[in-house]
Parts: sequence; structure tokens; C-alpha cells
Amino acid sequence: MNNHNRVLIFDTTLRDGEQSPGCSMTVDEKLRMAAKLVELGVDILEAGFPIASDGDFQAVRRIAEEFPEARVAALARACTVDIERAARSLEPCRRPRIHTFIATSDIHLKYKLRKSRQQVLDEAVAAVELARRYVDDVEFSAEDATRTDPDYLEQVSLATIEAGASTVNLPDTVGYSIPSEHAALIGRMVKSFGDRAIVSVHCHDDLGLAVANSLAAVQAGARQVECTINGIGERAGNCSLEEIVMAMRVRRDLLPFETGIVTEQLYPASKLLTELITFGPQPNKAIVGENAFAHEAGIHQDGFLKERTTYEIMDPRSVGVPESRLVLGKHSGRHALHKRCADLGYELTREELEEVYRRFIALADRKKGVRNEEILVIVREVAGRLPVAGD
Ligand code: KIV
Ligand code: ZN
Repeated sequence: MNNHNRVLIFDTTLRDGEQSPGCSMTVDEKLRMAAKLVELGVDILEAGFPIASDGDFQAVRRIAEEFPEARVAALARACTVDIERAARSLEPCRRPRIHTFIATSDIHLKYKLRKSRQQVLDEAVAAVELARRYVDDVEFSAEDATRTDPDYLEQVSLATIEAGASTVNLPDTVGYSIPSEHAALIGRMVKSFGDRAIVSVHCHDDLGLAVANSLAAVQAGARQVECTINGIGERAGNCSLEEIVMAMRVRRDLLPFETGIVTEQLYPASKLLTELITFGPQPNKAIVGENAFAHEAGIHQDGFLKERTTYEIMDPRSVGVPESRLVLGKHSGRHALHKRCADLGYELTREELEEVYRRFIALADRKKGVRNEEILVIVREVAGRLPVAGD
């Protein structure tokens, strides 16, 4: 596989993620998360928006100091004060990136910026030129790119590349795109920019399509994906890092792309983030949710116990989840119950298992799940004897 298939993972958990409700972190918390992101192997770590607050400035600076080898990015609007502050926060960094942005869609120009297309284009170019006086690595983002007139988007992008941007990010700021449309837009820009700049995508999840749109973009030639742990971010969040990375890993047959992510760190990173903010992923969240490797239905449990790959497309250990779980509930079967009893120290005869199973299902029908202690009570009543190995 050649380098052309290497996709850069730009993590924005500490910036876009952190700026969403319930996710703000102190400087020390950001440092803890940054250490985990470095261990995870993200290519670019967006550490904050230094103009937003002293805390954000300090966080970027401390992360730049403590992880001198990391490529750290700081966000700045396309204006002098933001860019200078971003540059100052990145001073200790050996591989600093200034990420400057301005909206390009007519709706943002008319109602938010109250500027003409020419003004926005001039400001974007001036911002990139100024950023380049401080750092070699400048990323330009055309906010609301997916709702921007594509001809104008191309014009602004090419002008910022001319001014020195080596990455052009085309955000789906409001999560409006659908995959086929996104692929067409990104494919056009990839062709137009050629080798002069990396095309990056930054998809929000308002329609639940952030990962699908990001993948479509990669297939169309984008080589940087902006994403967050647990998919946190503005409103419905950003593209989930763990999902896009594992999609490319598991479906390498159709998605022959590489990342530098140490996938065994995905679950630990998700757990740490949950500890630092006010909420965790929903239980059925792909890859890192509590149920992502849990099986309750009898048919599934039976298949899983015979051969794991009947119902699992990933080994849980490959994403850092210690093991799969068999959850005993009213849909469970004899196979899983037999195994649980054996794990608890009871080897049951066929007749005992039948009776334990009958009583277990009767109990499970009345509850959301059955605990080990409850299973033990049934087993002891039925078997009426001591366990074969320990208790
Ligand atoms: O969603 C967005 O457009 C952004 C930009 C600042 C990159 O977060
Ligand atoms: Zn965003």
C-alpha cells in the first residue's frame, strides 16, 4: 500500500468537542486527555481556540510544551488578533499548525458576517498569509463549505492555497450533506487542488451521517479527517474517531486506507473522556458503547459460543475492550446459561440445566436482566449441592 492511501486523523476532541454542552475541561483535564490522544497516535491534535479564553490559551500552550513531538493545532478566526494569539499559544511547539477559518456560504455571509464574497475571499487570503509568517503549517477552513456555491468555494480554496495553506478543510458545518453529494464535492476539489494541498473533511452529525460522509470523502480523495472521541462536538457532534478508524480497518477490502491509530487505545480513550466530561456514549454506540460487544439473544449467544465471528466483526481486544459479554435475559438460551453456571462453579447435568433454565426464564420475563446472585439462588435450589470448583 503506498503513502497515497494514508489518511491523517485530525482530532478535535479538545476543540470542537470541548465547545459543546457538558464537555468543557480544565487545563489539567485537557492535558490528561492530550496524553491519551498522543498514545492513540492521532496525527494532528487540535488543542483549543486560544482567543476564546485564557484557559484555552493555556491549554494549547501547556499541551505544546508537554508534547513537543506532537503536531498541535490552534484554531483562529481569519483575523489578526486571533492568529497572533494562536501563534503565541503555539510558541513551544516544534510542529505547530494554525487553523484559520471563515464562513463562505451565502447564508453565513448575508446574515452572520454581513460581508461580500470578495471581502471574505480577501480576508481568507490575508489570514493565511499572516499565519504563514508564524508557522509553516497552515490549514484553512471554509466554514459551511457544503452549503457554499461550489465555484466560489473552489475560488476561495485555490486563493488560500496560493497564499500558503497546505491543508484545505471543507466542513459540513451543519451536517447537511449526504454521502453521494459529499463525495462529488470533495472529488471536484481534490482534482482541482492536485498535489498543492491536502483536502480535509470535518463532518457534523445532525442527520447521523458524519461518519458516512467522511468515508465517502476519503473514497473521493480526502486525506485528512477531522473527528472526535465518542463523536462529541457541536449539537449532534462530529464524526466519531473510533467509528471511522475501525470502518477503514475492518473493511480494508473496500476501504484500502491506513491511519496511524493504535486501535487498542480507542476504548481507553473513550473511557477517559467519559471520566472528564459529564456524559458517556450511549450504550449501543458503535465500538465503545457498553453493549458494543454484548450478546443477549439465545441464537446469538449460541453462535458466539461456537465461533465468535458468527456475531462479531471485530475482536473486542482490537479496540481495547477486555472481552465480550454474554448478558443473561429473557432472550438468552441454554448454551449461555450453561456456560455462566460453569463459570460460577456449577457443572449441571442435562436435567438440572433444563430446570434451572425454566426457572431462569420465568424470572427473566419479569425483569430487565438477571444477576449472577439470582442465578446462583436458582442453581442451588435445583441442584441442591455444592459447586464442583470453588464458590
Ligand atoms: O464545523 C465547523 O465548520 C468548524 C470549523 C471551525 C472547522 O468547526
Ligand atoms: Zn465543527
